[in-house]
Amino acid sequence: MAPLTLAEFEAVARERLDPVHYDFFAGGAGDETTLRANRAGFARLALLPRVLRGNGTRTTATTLFGRDTELPVVISPTAFHRLAHPDGELATARAAAGAGVVLVVSMAATTPVEQIAAAARAAAPERAPTLWFQLYVQPDLEFTEHLVRRAESAGCTALVVTVDSPVFGRRERDHRNGFHDLPAGLCCENLREPGGAVRRIEMSAELSWAHIDWLRQRTALPIVLKGVLHPEDALLAVEHGVDGLLVSNHGGRQLDTAPATVELLPEIAAAVAGRLPLLVDGGVRRGTDVVKALALGASAVGVGRPVLWGLAAAGERGVREVLALLREEVDHTLALCGAASPRELGPDLVRRQEGVC
Ligand code: FNR
Repeated sequence: MAPLTLAEFEAVARERLDPVHYDFFAGGAGDETTLRANRAGFARLALLPRVLRGNGTRTTATTLFGRDTELPVVISPTAFHRLAHPDGELATARAAAGAGVVLVVSMAATTPVEQIAAAARAAAPERAPTLWFQLYVQPDLEFTEHLVRRAESAGCTALVVTVDSPVFGRRERDHRNGFHDLPAGLCCENLREPGGAVRRIEMSAELSWAHIDWLRQRTALPIVLKGVLHPEDALLAVEHGVDGLLVSNHGGRQLDTAPATVELLPEIAAAVAGRLPLLVDGGVRRGTDVVKALALGASAVGVGRPVLWGLAAAGERGVREVLALLREEVDHTLALCGAASPRELGPDLVRRQEGVC
């Protein structure tokens, strides 16, 4: 039987994947406290519905950075899609384009961004598919600028700059499994030099706001900072002229014991006070999670692992089904909450329940 929930997709994916690769996708840092907290954060929130709102027609569509999207859900950047399925990022891009959903291409993709963009365009020629590019600013700024130009030329319409990784998270499942490198034949294609050699992604603890200023001067694309958690950093982001924030703890893969992202949302929303759109990811597995995050101030949410589960389960079709399930669940939840669109959701619809998780 076809999986009926995102959790069932994970179960199918787990059966199909090499256990070492499953652990790479599923795992988090340290004791995986933050990984679990992301889910518990959503579970602690209850939705308080409105009734008799007279809403006959509903839409899940919204706009992000001036572009229409069918769902207030983006595909968060995840590395190595060809470990999940031979079609890798091409399958993900086709499914995202077909569903009218933003795909954030990881800098650590196993397919070059140009090919991903071409696959997305071919899958949905009638509308311009939306691709954003995720960037780890490299200490070699010349190379970083080269990557930005590649993303721009490929047609990416925003840069998602990941700032929560001054060093790699300590993912103990991977250490235990001895998983340190991609198998032969796969590599981070966006790190390929014109001569053919492939660079390693460098994490740098030297990165600072000066690098964001540097980037701001070099691209007209909207810049979204991914991995901002502290409200003071959200304020600094406003001052430094970024265009959006993706509130993220990297799916529990960087600083273990960082708080659940959904719990930080109200504080960050209060700090930025509408000056920037907020996105949030980490633990979104149900339409009700999406609606809770939107009600608390997010313009959209990101999903990471569920897309990998769809991809591992059934390639492009699997990703399409994951996105269709989310869409159905979001629409259903909007109906039950008495809302005609994502824009009608507000914090009055959410109650925190102590002791539930
Ligand atoms: C990630 N994430 C990530 N983030 C990023 O900025 N660049 C990357 O290359 C990756 N790679 C990556 C690989 C895998 C296997 C996972 C699970 C995650 C983090 C990702 O963008 C996102 O923040 C989380 O996945 C969101 O949490 P959920 O939806 O997976 O719970």
